[in-house]
Amino acid sequence: MTDKEYYELIQPYEDAMKLLLTRLEVLNHSIYKTKTGKPVHNIQYRIKKKDSIEEKLVRHGFEPTLENAKDQLQDIAGVRIICYFVGDVNNLVNMLKKQPDLIFIRERNYIENPKPNGYRSHHVILGVNVCCLDANEYYPVEIQLRTISMDFWAAMEHRVSYKKQYDNKEQRVAELLQYSNILEKMEKEFEKYNDHPVEM
Ligand code: GTP
Ligand code: MG
Repeated sequence: MTDKEYYELIQPYEDAMKLLLTRLEVLNHSIYKTKTGKPVHNIQYRIKKKDSIEEKLVRHGFEPTLENAKDQLQDIAGVRIICYFVGDVNNLVNMLKKQPDLIFIRERNYIENPKPNGYRSHHVILGVNVCCLDANEYYPVEIQLRTISMDFWAAMEHRVSYKKQYDNKEQRVAELLQYSNILEKMEKEFEKYNDHPVEM
């Protein structure tokens, strides 16, 4: 893939991501009745780098071409939403699924079914309609929803373990799982003190 091809490829994904970010801003201030109880702590987003697109295609057995990137990858545009509590994540996922102009493509709920290492997050892939002069297409955006404590864990795990080779991996994974469980417990305790009800 040439640099020119890459920049042409990502343009509509960037547009789709911006449209989704605006929608999230609206949902964040309108989902709950009280202004003090916004569900979102912060949002991060990124467009996958050229190297990373090519590496993933090759890893999955595809030629690193523009066509394969479009056909095979659904995480070229990625948004990470960090919420306070699991209830906030669930409410946001439900609202996103109800948006009439967004297409639901796929989800993986690692909050209900954590990975063996303790990774927790709710991943949803939505199709966002991007209209321009000569075309009108849906582009996938991968949304990772998680709480602050899940984000802390994932950032640390990513730093010390994810997709890395090292000795005593089994032991470290067992430890990471333990920490994930401790954080989950801690978060539930904090939720008891939350005066803003998040169940909708
Ligand atoms: P990738 O090839 O990494 O994109 O994974 P995938 O397409 O098979 O999808 P999956 O839902 O498993 O993971 C998507 C993304 O979630 C990853 O790129 C990470 O950002 C995040 N993720 C998944 N598993 C883990 C994990 O064990 N630890 C951390 N830190 N992040 C994870
Ligand atoms: Mg990915």
